[in-house]
Amino acid sequence: MDFIEVVIQTNIDSGELLGMLRSGGSLGAWESDGFLHLFWPEDQWNPAAFADLTQVLMQMGVEDRENLLTIRSVPDQDWNAEWAKSLRPIRLGRHLRIRQSWHEPDPAFDGIELVIDPKRAFGTGYHATTQLVIEWLEDHIGGGERILDVGTGTGVLAMAAIRLGAASALAVDNDPVAIECAWEYCSANGFGPELELRATSFEDLEAVGYDVVVANLDIRTMPGFCPHLRRLLKPGGIACLSGLQPQDFDEISEALARVKLHICGRTNREEWIALTIRDSKFGIEGGS
Ligand SMILES: C[S@@+](CC[C@H](N)C(=O)[O-])C[C@H]1O[C@@H](n2cnc3c(N)ncnc32)[C@H](O)[C@@H]1O
Repeated sequence: MDFIEVVIQTNIDSGELLGMLRSGGSLGAWESDGFLHLFWPEDQWNPAAFADLTQVLMQMGVEDRENLLTIRSVPDQDWNAEWAKSLRPIRLGRHLRIRQSWHEPDPAFDGIELVIDPKRAFGTGYHATTQLVIEWLEDHIGGGERILDVGTGTGVLAMAAIRLGAASALAVDNDPVAIECAWEYCSANGFGPELELRATSFEDLEAVGYDVVVANLDIRTMPGFCPHLRRLLKPGGIACLSGLQPQDFDEISEALARVKLHICGRTNREEWIALTIRDSKFGIEGGS
């Protein structure tokens, strides 16, 4: 079978781009010298796939997208090996390491290792918004918590929370493809019934009172999530909201104040911020 290779002159993250594509079918991507190479089986490359790609590039801020794209047919070749070569295991926070299945475990590493291959869900560990929540979990999981992970993508945050000591997690995503990928990762990493995956939107979740809620969502979705956070978090519970940028702070702060939640901590990486949220009744911890 032949493949379609799309080459884009950009420095955006391949895992992030793959995670945002809606149409599916892309086999993978790799980065090299300022170019991103994406591959589709020839029979899956169609106008809908092209429209999806250009839309995602626009969302990711790539300008002049059509002129930066080169599309060509390539014979069956071992592009997978090229892609694999470009990805390396990554250390997150103080305790975690994510590796791709084609890399061997590091015998010298005695922390928590998760195996996640980039497929069609966001959350391979390379993005700052994921990293901020992982670091937050390291500081806020004491042991035994019931976790809700909203917008789970690969399931990375729920998996990390359980390995850090949480008792159980419900991980939801309104994209069934993400949940399919998360299911594969959770099984491959040896998780069982303590980690429940559900293809649903947060609006449809019953309020059972979670000790900890993590949500790495975008600014279009986050304000609508705030009232749900209020009902999903147990009194005295704590949450981490990621996927936000400094200019979103006022809008989110107001949306939270309307439901009597407040921001009691803030961390940042690159152009991203993550916020720690508590119920107003339960006082303010450090941070601004
Ligand atoms: C930025 S990714 C985060 C993935 C992963 N949690 C991480 O931190 O790397 C956001 C995810 O939220 C999901 N999402 C968007 N709106 C949602 C909603 N209303 N309910 C549940 N999930 C949603 C998207 O499908 C996507 O997988």
